[in-house]
Amino acid sequence: MIYQVVKKKMNNNLKAIIFDLDGVVTDTAEYHYKSWELPLKEEGIDFTEKENEKLRGLSRRDSVKTIAQTKDVVFTEKKENEIMEKKNQYYQEIIEDLNKNDMIDGIYEILVELKNKNYKMAVASASRNAKQVIKSLDLDNFFEVIADGNSVNKSKPAPDLFLFTAKKMGFKPEECLVVEDSKAGVKGAKEAGMKVIGIGPKERIGEADYCYKKVSDIDTKKIF
Ligand code: BG6
Ligand code: MG
Repeated sequence: MIYQVVKKKMNNNLKAIIFDLDGVVTDTAEYHYKSWELPLKEEGIDFTEKENEKLRGLSRRDSVKTIAQTKDVVFTEKKENEIMEKKNQYYQEIIEDLNKNDMIDGIYEILVELKNKNYKMAVASASRNAKQVIKSLDLDNFFEVIADGNSVNKSKPAPDLFLFTAKKMGFKPEECLVVEDSKAGVKGAKEAGMKVIGIGPKERIGEADYCYKKVSDIDTKKIF
């Protein structure tokens, strides 16, 4: 009981919740994977779903560089650009069909609860397709700010995207809490001086302040 009171006090100055998009609001990891798989196959590279896990939270450019490292190949900058462009064409075709049914279980209820509690909300995603995805999910109305892969130069794990989002909302880092599913995202949010809810296995998000396997496991009564 006392513990609960202390926890409440710890989160007393919490004003804004910043959500990552892919893996928190919608489960696009498989779509990103499918979109990488095809152009890589054209290069004679077999890319597995397990290897794709390393790309969670990384920008498109950092992803293609990580793929080259993982598969021990060298891409010229021209080739990197070509692969990235094809990947994005496939990805955009897939997300054309996204709709409300593609939301992760439990996220909609959390957004409604937090909005009713008057928290300000934002998205901070490494994806340059974030605005399109949020529109397809019909969630625009929940977010004051949508920061995406175009917003800052240094992508996650740098803290820049989170700091940019907080500043744009008019809040200090310590007034913000981030919900993230990637190692890079948890690192960036902590470096920005924010509290973090991590979603996923401990080896991925274990550095977060609160760790849950799934979004629907988040104990909102305890945290907010
Ligand atoms: C992140 C995903 O949200 O966005 C990564 O977790 C992805 O897998 C990154 O590479 C960039 O996305 P996009 O849409 O700009 O290629
Ligand atoms: Mg993510």
